[in-house]
Amino acid sequence: MNKATARTQTEDLSHYIGGARVGASVVHESENPSNTSEIVARFPDGGKSDVDAAVEAARKAFPAWSDASPEVRSDCLDRVGEIILRRREELGRLLSREEGKTLPEGIGEVARAGRIFKYFAGEALRRHGQNLSSTRPGVDVTTSREPVGVFGLITPWNFPIAIPAWKSAPAMAFGNTVVIKPAGPTPATAAALADCIYEAAVPAGVFNLVLGRGSVGDALVNHPGVNGISFTGSQATGAKVGAAAMARQARVQMEMGGKNPLVVLDDADLERAVACALDGAFYATGQRCTASSRLIVTNGIHDRFVAALAQRAAGLKVGDALEATTQMGPLASREQMQQTLSYVDIAKKEGARLVTGGEPLSLDKPGWYVSPAVFADTTQKMRVNSEEIFGPVASVIRVRDYDEALEVANGGEFGLSAGIVTTSLKHARHFQRAVRAGMVMVNLPTAGVDYHVPFGGMRRSSYGPREQGFAAVEFYTQVKTAYVWS
Ligand code: UN1
Repeated sequence: MNKATARTQTEDLSHYIGGARVGASVVHESENPSNTSEIVARFPDGGKSDVDAAVEAARKAFPAWSDASPEVRSDCLDRVGEIILRRREELGRLLSREEGKTLPEGIGEVARAGRIFKYFAGEALRRHGQNLSSTRPGVDVTTSREPVGVFGLITPWNFPIAIPAWKSAPAMAFGNTVVIKPAGPTPATAAALADCIYEAAVPAGVFNLVLGRGSVGDALVNHPGVNGISFTGSQATGAKVGAAAMARQARVQMEMGGKNPLVVLDDADLERAVACALDGAFYATGQRCTASSRLIVTNGIHDRFVAALAQRAAGLKVGDALEATTQMGPLASREQMQQTLSYVDIAKKEGARLVTGGEPLSLDKPGWYVSPAVFADTTQKMRVNSEEIFGPVASVIRVRDYDEALEVANGGEFGLSAGIVTTSLKHARHFQRAVRAGMVMVNLPTAGVDYHVPFGGMRRSSYGPREQGFAAVEFYTQVKTAYVWS
């Protein structure tokens, strides 16, 4: 039986600690959101003692790993990347089955994880120190970047392999060791990453994985042997993680979502604008922190844009993530579906006009299916435009002109990604400078980022140094300044 066939059955998962699968009785289940009668995996309820064991393994592995030639780390990461890429179809299928994004999206995400490892295989070899001039004659000043120690990585369910990859690959490249706590709904995809790490013969203890619920994250954040925490998830959890990490002076980086604006100006190419909005709002079933959830549209194009978007959204084929004709999969869980539907209600009560979608769908399989929703006549003050929904809901805000569009785009508390669709160079360049967001997209969807460049937001979207690409060195290393007189 090949792995792809095996992966249609229920797997029993274990923690991965000190280079070994550590068995424990399996008490939780992850289900297939496209067909909830199917259990994808059973997994243990990790707790403090598992975190203690994982941190101890990571601490034990740290001296040899951080002292190893960078070539050793580079080769390890390159092998992990190769293995992930080789297994992309099988792992993509598992990811889509467990998380609910369509198969092309699942395979694409796995490939992205593989590419991230290969990128950081190169970064492991790069020296990031500087030569500086001293004010004193005869003195040389240099900086070097040293590994920090053990990192605790808390990762979300919506990118169940790419985000563990983009946190663990740079951590390991720069000589640190890691303990990952993946999200409850997607343990099998995270465990598959641990399999790849094992297959690549990464030394025992460098990469550890503890499965379970929130108490695993708590234990990790509060563990004195963990030197830094990288977290992606909700703002509410992020606030607690940040406070706990700072209380014991652990370094901390957090990515906590967005309410990303996509501005559409009168001079935009209508087709392009609709394509950007459709991708940004509904791909991955709207469950991306970079999703385009606020569509800010000027008067002259507004009606044509809303009509065209509603028509395209209504035409999206919602269905089982693994079926070839499916264009939008289910929500990842019952909780996500309830949250989405409750915001549809809130929007209606606040006076928004539902143009299409927003209904639970009964298909031939029991799953968390909702039709993609487009609201019009919304205002920035509405909850639907200030709180993150994390589902396939786009709301349109009508504005007079570019100036008002910019003002609305900069409303609210988030500032992760922001987009503008326009043929005006003047407005595109101005928006790029003036919008308060960590990432700006011109004539592109707000979601769907490259894997080798900095990622992160402003305001309440993010905290701490940027993730990914060359920026990742900031968080995963510490600077030493040396003065030498000779
Ligand atoms: C993307 O838009 O390609 O959790 C990535 C999230 C983000 C990743 C988005 N951290 O949705």
